[in-house]
Amino acid sequence: MNQIVVSVLKQKEISGLLIEWYDENKRILPWRNTNDPYKIWVSEVILQQTRVAQGLNYYLQFVEQFPTVNDLAESSEENVLKVWQGLGYYSRARNLHQGAKAVVALHKSKLPTSYKEIISIKGIGEYTAAAILSIAYNKPYAVVDGNVYRVLSRLFAIDTPIDTSVGKKQFAKLAQDLIDVSNPAKYNQAIMELGALQCAPVQPLCDSCPLQFLCAANHLNMQSEFPVKSKKVKVRNRYLHYFHIEYEGYTYLNKRIGNDIWKNMYEFPLIETELESDLSDLLVSDSFKSLFGDAEITIHHSAKQFKHILTHQHIYANFYFVEVEKSDVFLINNFKKIQKEEISLYPISRLIHKYLEQK
Ligand code: ADE
Ligand code: SF4
Repeated sequence: MNQIVVSVLKQKEISGLLIEWYDENKRILPWRNTNDPYKIWVSEVILQQTRVAQGLNYYLQFVEQFPTVNDLAESSEENVLKVWQGLGYYSRARNLHQGAKAVVALHKSKLPTSYKEIISIKGIGEYTAAAILSIAYNKPYAVVDGNVYRVLSRLFAIDTPIDTSVGKKQFAKLAQDLIDVSNPAKYNQAIMELGALQCAPVQPLCDSCPLQFLCAANHLNMQSEFPVKSKKVKVRNRYLHYFHIEYEGYTYLNKRIGNDIWKNMYEFPLIETELESDLSDLLVSDSFKSLFGDAEITIHHSAKQFKHILTHQHIYANFYFVEVEKSDVFLINNFKKIQKEEISLYPISRLIHKYLEQK
């Protein structure tokens, strides 16, 4: 590992250029007009895995529904998931809700100002802790998110893989060495904003970048080589077969338990298979028998397969619309029976939402 040493002069040059650029070019965003640590927390959690264009309306809706940490803590998880519906990575919402409860219970409804205390709150990791402490309280903790990895790895042509503990330490130290301690709020937002607007993952806009003449990757014309990752992500394929059942104006939902991406959200009765399977495979499976027993049903297959691509899993969903002619005990026992219009009251995945929209 080639540790980068940053002189005071260089630190001042880089942070100065970043801040000057930020003042001229920053986007006007609602969370940039507030010092409320709770709102900054919400915005940073949303922005961790979501682009600004998509996150903006969710942020506005979220803080309207839950204007204070107390409002959030007092809400039901179901209601929080409902507001988050469509944004994905729902563990963020569950953790934010749990975190809000902890802030109310343990910190008199005020986000703590010390690193040690704030990082012990559920859902607040190193990134979020540094973001809140710097942006809301102007404390000198450098943030390291995907934008920062990209800018710094290019600026210094660092080829240490960012997904290793050595890499994480190296970039954390470098980010901390570069921060403007007299204005950490602005510095942190400036480097993230540069990553979002200039130093894009593909085709960065180097010609108009304030760091162009300092940037090693630009000199080497090797922008696309950075950042380096060590591992190829392993992808798991999952095949979901949903049964949208209608019977006398009712439909049937299931609340997902188990610790996965859609925990505690609602969905149609489901069979999951490890391999691509068609209806004839499903009809002879044990899961199908335990779902439908001996009920008399007519099954209509929706021709379209829905894909949901995540970093570690590719999900393929098929939908079957099931008309029940004669009921059986199966439906009553296992599922929540609701009037079919009531489905909009439940938190459901984007996948199911898309299916319902096109149906
Ligand atoms: N990405 C995540 N948080 C951000 C922020 N505060 N400013 C710019 N980009 C961001
Ligand atoms: Fe990124 Fe290009 Fe700027 Fe270097 S010059 S920091 S690669 S946008």
